[in-house]
Amino acid sequence: MSNILVLNGPNLNLLGTRQPDVYGRETLSIIEANCIKYGETRGALVSCLQSNHEGALIDAIHAAKSDQQGIILNAGAYTHTSIALMDAIASVELPCVEVHLSNIHAREAFRHVSYISKVAIGQICGFGSRGYILAIDALVAHLDMCDDK
Ligand code: DQA
Repeated sequence: MSNILVLNGPNLNLLGTRQPDVYGRETLSIIEANCIKYGETRGALVSCLQSNHEGALIDAIHAAKSDQQGIILNAGAYTHTSIALMDAIASVELPCVEVHLSNIHAREAFRHVSYISKVAIGQICGFGSRGYILAIDALVAHLDMCDDK
């Protein structure tokens, strides 16, 4: 059984009502419930956390080192700005899958840069809330592969 942290950053608490044409109509609670349920089918215990504060996200990443095997991170706009979040992921040495609901590469130029990508094992973007489910599959497959080594 792997423990996986699904961590969401700023403004993602507003999913459902926030620019639904870009981010969809599902609320974060529904997405989190689906991740927990899907995780069970993949032998993963999923915990979820959202914060609008960079420091709180960093604290959550540090805390994950003691009891999580991997992190799924949608850092919201901090993706494009936060060297501190990038350093936090690098510091804990946990595999991280980066997720975005929208296809950040098809949007404004400032969204094309991701500091998280530099330390993530991979990025999933553009598939809406399904991206979190795809990220669980990717992370579980990665952890299984590491176990086999
Ligand atoms: C986002 C993309 C970011 O550019 C944006 O700032 C967000 C959401 C996404 O999930 O598509 O807050 O991470």
